[in-house]
Order: sequence, then structure tokens, then C-alpha cells
Amino acid sequence: MDAMTPAPEELASAANPVAAHMAELRAQLRHHGHMYHVLDAPTIPDVEYDRLFRELQRLEQAHPEWCSADSPTQRVGGAPVQAFASVAHQVPMLSIQTETDNTEQGAHLFDQRVRKQLQCLETDPPLEYVAELKFDGLAISLRYVQHVLVQAATRGDGAWGEDVTHNIRTIGQIPLRLPAHAPAELEVRGEIYMRRDDFEALNERQRQKIAAGAKNEKTFVNPRNAAAGAVRQLDPQIAAQRPLSFFAYALHFHPTAQENLSPVQATLWGLDPYGTHAQVLAALKDWGFPVSAQAQTVNGAQGLVAFHQQIAAQRDQLPFDIDGVVYKVNAIAAQAVLGMVSREPRWAVAHKFPAQEELTTVLDIDVQVGRTGKLTPVAKLAPVFVGGVTVTHATLHNEDEARRKDVRVGDTVVVRRAGDVIPEVVSVVLEKRSHVAPEFTMPRACPVCDSVAVREEGEADYRCSGGLFCPAQKKQAILHFAHRRAVEIEDLGEKIVDQLVDAGLVNTLPDLYKLGFSHLAALDRMAEKSANNLLHSIHKSKDTTLPKFLFGLGIRHVGESTAKTLARHFGGMDAIMDASLDQLLQVADVGPVVAQSLRTFFDQAHNREVVAQLRACGVHWSESEPQGRLDLPLAGHTYVITGTLPNLSREQAQALLEQAGAKVAGSVSKKTTAVVAGEAAGSKLEKALALGVPVLDEAGLMLLVQTQP
Ligand code: IVH
Repeated sequence: MDAMTPAPEELASAANPVAAHMAELRAQLRHHGHMYHVLDAPTIPDVEYDRLFRELQRLEQAHPEWCSADSPTQRVGGAPVQAFASVAHQVPMLSIQTETDNTEQGAHLFDQRVRKQLQCLETDPPLEYVAELKFDGLAISLRYVQHVLVQAATRGDGAWGEDVTHNIRTIGQIPLRLPAHAPAELEVRGEIYMRRDDFEALNERQRQKIAAGAKNEKTFVNPRNAAAGAVRQLDPQIAAQRPLSFFAYALHFHPTAQENLSPVQATLWGLDPYGTHAQVLAALKDWGFPVSAQAQTVNGAQGLVAFHQQIAAQRDQLPFDIDGVVYKVNAIAAQAVLGMVSREPRWAVAHKFPAQEELTTVLDIDVQVGRTGKLTPVAKLAPVFVGGVTVTHATLHNEDEARRKDVRVGDTVVVRRAGDVIPEVVSVVLEKRSHVAPEFTMPRACPVCDSVAVREEGEADYRCSGGLFCPAQKKQAILHFAHRRAVEIEDLGEKIVDQLVDAGLVNTLPDLYKLGFSHLAALDRMAEKSANNLLHSIHKSKDTTLPKFLFGLGIRHVGESTAKTLARHFGGMDAIMDASLDQLLQVADVGPVVAQSLRTFFDQAHNREVVAQLRACGVHWSESEPQGRLDLPLAGHTYVITGTLPNLSREQAQALLEQAGAKVAGSVSKKTTAVVAGEAAGSKLEKALALGVPVLDEAGLMLLVQTQP
């Protein structure tokens, strides 16, 4: 029987439309639960599943008479696949209640519930909690007997799981034998997951296999599915090739083992009735299990809120996916008092972050032309709220990607938006494709100017060959020149540039400076005041700096930082335009690609003409003596600025460092010379500390730039 079809007995009881709807929901959830738990091949994102699940839960509460014992809401997982042996969990594997309320509320509600159940008085001090990450992987239980790993089981339905020992043994992070000072018999629980970089590398290998003609190979949708697939492999040889990681977060003793514990041992391991969860984590770490460094012991609801905010800010920088945080009552004795309700302990709660994946439909596939002529296929989407914002477009990157994912107009797709990264289409929900839209093909001509689109050997991108004759490239070039980090023409937005180019008023950059009030006032929706403001901004932009001007020209591969280096090295514009390849290669950080790109640009008479005309229009900057290479005290050093400094603005601090020859970067790595940290410094400071990169305050920075010879 098709899993989507309701069972006959359900149909029989479904004369009422609400009951029918409930039956339909159960059928859908059963189907998707099977895809997810048994086949490791979910076709809808978790949030969508959760939504269906909650809707059914709500209806079941309202209509207990139409509940059925086999509803997916009545159990916590799917049935184990036939090929794995079943394992009875000696202690049931619980799930955690999810707090759906917003940050502050959620933590306070949980704290209030716990305090009430523990009969705390208002005057009692705040309770201690351990706040942890909610890892987005799959739960596993590891049994050790006589210090040896004897069994590893998945959670399954919480009471019965699957024996996956053969695969788990292949994971290097999981100890096969515990040190002698650990208890001989215990059960450790934690999360198997895949790091993001491991996931990317795995998918790259999979793509290569597929390209080489391998059948039965596929790429994975996300790290969790890849991890779940690996753990539930029948062949441990294959599992061993999948890079899995593990974090331990819970410990259980079996009664026999517990009875044998001497009081001294129990206290030592933090397992006595007066012990804490924090001690459990410390003991697990001591016995060789990976324990997340992010777990923190905090006080009261306020401590939980602070943790939540701190982790939300770090989420995208973590090397693995999390879907929220977990709060746990620290004292084991208090946990025992609180107990559990319906498979969920009352002493723990999960607080989820906004989902980073959602479902939506593809309305159209556009091809956009970038500043350098790059053609990018972009899916136009029915608006959807994901990762905290409403998304209407998602990139398909290039032709190969679009075809590999086989995205077509009308398709239902999974969209992902993580952090500040541009939204992307992850995959198509093929089973929802009911129409036959044609496969996407990249146009062979620029959709804007009809010039030939070329894909160079070894490149993934097609480029419009029209150059600045292409209105799309022209518009992008103008917007780039007007950017805040280039010559900065405030108020010159996309809509205005569109009109200026389409009306033929601006063809090249110098045309901007020939615009008069009457031209601007005639534009669509341009009031007199706005026209004056824009004229003023254009005028103001004439007073610029050499790096800003150079960056603004939009030369391929010449970013802000290269522009600064070039300006410092050569001192003036003419020297840059006339520099030979060899001279360019003398510049710190300039390699053959950048050098060639500069030469190509300035070898074209029309580009030199643009520079000459801009100067003739009054665009100016101050020039300086050439600095040459490596004669500045901090040349070759990289600094990162984070947080609020007491006196200097971030720009001032950056300027001081750059004047001394240092580079200022946006993110911390092992190569960072030092981090300058002010108040409220967050993840960058933490990363510096973790990597052992030196940290300076403002006073240290002043000393550094002043004491350099
Ligand atoms: S503790 C009593 N801690 O969340 C609760 N679970 O919904 C037992 N999970 O299946 C689990 N990170 O896979 C705990 N730091 C963490 C966790 C965590 C992720 C998962 C786990 C479990 C699910 C519960």
C-alpha cells in the first residue's frame, strides 16, 4: 500500500471532515517518518514535518475521540529496519520538550516551572543550570562492559533501537576501551554528527564518483542526513569512509554496576545523589569522550538567556550544525525530583533557533548579469520566511549546479539560508513535481544585451562578452563606483541607475558628473528635493581617495584591500596605470592573476580615457610618495578589530594599523598576528583565545603603532 494513502479503517471513521483531515495527517506523517527514520532520505525539511506533527497534536487534543493508538504522535521515532538487530534500551531514550516561545520568555517559563516543582521560595537563590548546544545529528547509546565498548544502539522509538555497533566502532572519536579509573560498566549517550567541512568534502567526493559514472551514489542534503545514512549503513566498510564525529552528553549506570560503586568512587565521578550534570560532563571528558567545549554552568533564567544569545551569535561560525540550545537542571538530585512526563524529562528543555531550511515553490528561473558579466541563474521563489528573513530569490550558482539539482519552474524546493550567506536552493522535492517543465539551460547569449555568452575552459561560469556595452554590466559598474566603499555617491540607488542608463543619460562613469538638475528632476518619482540631494552627493563624491577611486573602477580581482596596497605602494594613479607586469608583481599580495588583470584593464585605451575624463570632471584625491614594499613597520602583519574601543572608532583603529603597513582582516585565523578587542567583543575574541592568537586592547594598539620605528 502506498504510504501516503490512509488505512481503510481510518477512512471508515472519517465521515467527518476534521476526522478525515486527521487521518490524512497521520498518513502523511507516517510516510515522512518512514522516509526520514527508516530510509534516511527525507523529502521535506524538519520544520515542515514539525508543523504537520503539531497540527495533528492540536487536533488530537481538541478531538480525543478521533485519536488512534498508532498515531505518529504516540511514539518517538520510526521502526528499525529489518537488517539491524533490535536492542532494548535499559533506560528509555527520552526526547526533550521544545520551548517554542521567544528567547527570554522561554527561559523564564522553564525556570519558573522548575522552581515551582522544586517548591523554591521566591527568596531562594537562582537555580544552577547547564546550558548546552543542541547538536543536529542523531542520538546514540554506547554500552561499556568491563571497560570495553560492547554495543552501540540508535534511539529508535526510545524503547527499542537498532544495533549499529559495527559502524560506531569505525568512529575514531569513540573510545573502544575506557581507562582503568573509569567505572567498568556504564552507558554513555550522545550525538553522532558530521562536521560541515567533512560534509562538504564528502559531497565533493560523491560528485566525483557520480561524474566518473558510478551508479547508486548520491550527494547528501545536509550533514545530519549524511551522518544518519552512515550510521545506518549495513556495510561497515562504507560507514568507515564517512567522516563522523561524536559529542557525549549523558551517562547512565545500570543497577548492578551502581550497587558496586564505592561511595568514594561515586563522589569522585560526580555520580552521587548530590552530584551535578556538570560533573558528569567533566567525568565523560576525563574518560576520553569528546564533550563540547561550549557547555556552560549558568545561574537562573538570566544565565540561560545570555547563553542563548551568545550561541545564536556564534551559530554560523561553529564547525558543525546545531538547531538550538538545551537547558538542563544541574543538580542530579533535583533532576530526580522533577522526573519526567510522557517521555520527556521535566528537568530539561530545548530552545530552538529559527529554521535555516524551508519549503517553497519556484516561480521562475532568471539569469542575472553581474558586474564582471558573470551570468548567474537565480530561482524566483514564492516568498518564504527562513533563517529569520523573507526570501524571494535563491541563487543556483551556475549551470552545472542548476542542472545537478535539476530545478525547474513550478517545483517545490528546499531553500536554505544560514547566517549572512545568500539563500540557496538545496534540493527539489521530486515527489511534488506534478508537471513537466523543461530542464533548465543556460542561455548562450546575454539575456540583457544579446552578446555571446562564453564559458571559458575550466571555468564554471558563463560570462556576457558585451563588457560595458552591456547595459546590465554598465549598471552594475556604476553602482559599484558609487558604492560607499568606493567614491560614495549617497542616494544613487539601483532604481535611479536603471533609469539613467535606460534613458541613455549615463553611458560611462564620467557621464555621472555631467548630469544637471533638469535631467534628474525628470526621472520617475524624483522630487525636487531628492534631485538636489543627489546632485549634491555626486558633487561631494569628487573629493575622494586614491584607494577608493581605484577600487571604484571595478577592475577584476582588485578588491578594497588590493586597491589600498597598490595606492600605498605606487603613491599615485599614473604610476599604477603605467606599471609593468614585473613592477606590479613587486607589490605585496599581488600575484600573476591580479597583475595581469590590472595590465589588461589599463592597456585598453577606453579605460584610460574614463580615468582622464573623471579627472577632467573634477574627481580628485591626494597622492603621496611611493612607499614601496615592506618598508613599513607592520608590513606583512594581519590584525582583526572586534568590539567597541573606548576612544577610537573602528575606522580610526583600522587606519592607524594600515598606515603602519598592517592588513586589517574580518575574521580570525591562525595567521592573524593579533586581535584588537574592545567592549562586547564576541566570537572573534573567543576564536582568538581558542587559537592562541594574542589579544590587544586600545592602549596596546596605540603602543604598537607608536613604538614602531
Ligand atoms: S540530552 C533527557 N543533550 O535531542 C534528554 N540531547 O529531543 C536526553 N540532542 O534525541 C537528551 N543535543 O539526539 C541532549 N546537548 C544535548 C543534545 C541532545 C542534541 C538531541 C538528542 C535527542 C534529542 C532530544
